[in-house]
Amino acid sequence: MKADKVYLVGFMGAGKSSVARALGKRLDWKAEDIDARIERAERRDIPAIFRDHGEPYFRAKERAALIDLLPERGVVIASGGGTFAEASNRELMLRDGAVVWLDAPFETVLRRVPLDGRRPLAADRVGMEQLYTQRLAAYRQAHLRVDAGRGSVEELVDHIMEWLEAT
Ligand code: S3P
Repeated sequence: MKADKVYLVGFMGAGKSSVARALGKRLDWKAEDIDARIERAERRDIPAIFRDHGEPYFRAKERAALIDLLPERGVVIASGGGTFAEASNRELMLRDGAVVWLDAPFETVLRRVPLDGRRPLAADRVGMEQLYTQRLAAYRQAHLRVDAGRGSVEELVDHIMEWLEAT
């Protein structure tokens, strides 16, 4: 196995954080979560960051969190849904580790993501679907695509492990 770092990318509700924790356990690596790091550093939650400072500020903090994690090895990183959609982040992540796209169908996303304001960019179905479609071209650049619409977290981890072991 060549990789010593895995980035999980994909839309909101794809399961990035839970798969990161489970894959981290399986590999005996750390699991990190970009959103959680931003919330800790900013001492407020993501809706409050968007409300008080706007999305560009959030994106700057997201990139800073990514850069902070660059020296880390032996780590699985759950990105936010928009992290890999930014070209400069994408370049950095593709060079730094193995990038795995958890590809969840839009219907699955809708089922899993409540439109309750907890995620500022999940306010309405139409807006969310547009964002979903726009981001597909970015997510397709990941090194591995995994169907995150079915199967348990452990099954997804099995699949990722097989691929990692073969590379
Ligand atoms: C976002 C996704 C969220 C969070 C923020 C913005 C996005 O992360 O980073 O609300 O742009 O898709 P999750 O994918 O973990 O929900």
